[in-house]
Amino acid sequence: MADAAGLPGTLLFLAAALALLSVALSPSAAAAQANQAEIARGKYVFGATGGCGCHTEPGKGRPVNAGGRKIDAPFGTVYATNITPDRETGIGGWTDEQIIGATRLGRRPNGERILPVHPFGSFNGMAEGDLKALVAFLRTLPPVKKPNQPKKITVPLFESVFLPAWLAAFAVSEKPPAAAPTSGVARGEYLVKAVGHCGECHTPRTRFQALDNGRFLAGNPTGPENSEVPNITPDKETGLTWSVDEIAYYLASGNKPDGDVVGGIMGEVIYGNVAGYKDMTKADLTAIAQYLKSIPPVRYKIGK
Ligand code: HEC
Repeated sequence: MADAAGLPGTLLFLAAALALLSVALSPSAAAAQANQAEIARGKYVFGATGGCGCHTEPGKGRPVNAGGRKIDAPFGTVYATNITPDRETGIGGWTDEQIIGATRLGRRPNGERILPVHPFGSFNGMAEGDLKALVAFLRTLPPVKKPNQPKKITVPLFESVFLPAWLAAFAVSEKPPAAAPTSGVARGEYLVKAVGHCGECHTPRTRFQALDNGRFLAGNPTGPENSEVPNITPDKETGLTWSVDEIAYYLASGNKPDGDVVGGIMGEVIYGNVAGYKDMTKADLTAIAQYLKSIPPVRYKIGK
């Protein structure tokens, strides 16, 4: 009898205890949820950069963001750095502010300058919220212990002549924009210039290897990894004549209107590691295409 009477009492007690527990847990549950949303947003931003592909060695099964990718530049050879959360060889020991500073200002926590091979001149325009989300996402990727390889500078006057010219050409703004445009051509411009850093490959360079932004997106006959990078300004003869939908579909799939498929480094940024351009929303890809249609056409023939 005592047991039968005690059961509902026990259940009531349990229910009350559970209710109390869930009240006690809910603030941290909400925080965890907010953090999940932040990480998801960061993954989206990561994709919109093309998946930070330079930081992953090409080839199947290479650890994401562990660096080591060899990049030949006119002044020598650099190796992309380890940006996994490993504390010793990666960026796991850096604060959010330090990671954001390296990303958009090109400065390491120890004050060292990062060469503009890392596109901080473009990422400088990324909005604060996007950068914070990106860092939250980077911290969720597996840490990989892999020491960075030192750069090999072969041009004698590099540090005294070229680097100052570069840094002047890539003059950065200290404070990031507070918010990113959310729609339309302004959104497309933001994604092209700041996040997708399309100009780093698609804009020709001066003899100091700085971006020749007077010919923004007019193509580069000698782009990264010896790629011929096409002119994507709307010039009728030498530029991109695809429709808005065709451009958006290409960025989503790699498929060109003529049935051909993207190759090389453009394929890398479309497909990405973990995420790439293909993972952007249709609205964002359309905004990019609309922006490309709106920029001044530049006559500049790339290739035969
Ligand atoms: C890492 C260098 C790199 C980046 C970054 C890059 N591209 Fe490209 N892009 C290329 C190369 C190389 C090709 C040629 C690909 C091929 O031959 O299949 C190309 C091709 C294209 C084409 C096809 C043009 C044609 O006539 O075939 C379009 C459109 C394009 N890119 C748009 C963009 C946009 C928009 C962005 C930024 C959101 C971007 N690209 C970022 C290197 C890059």
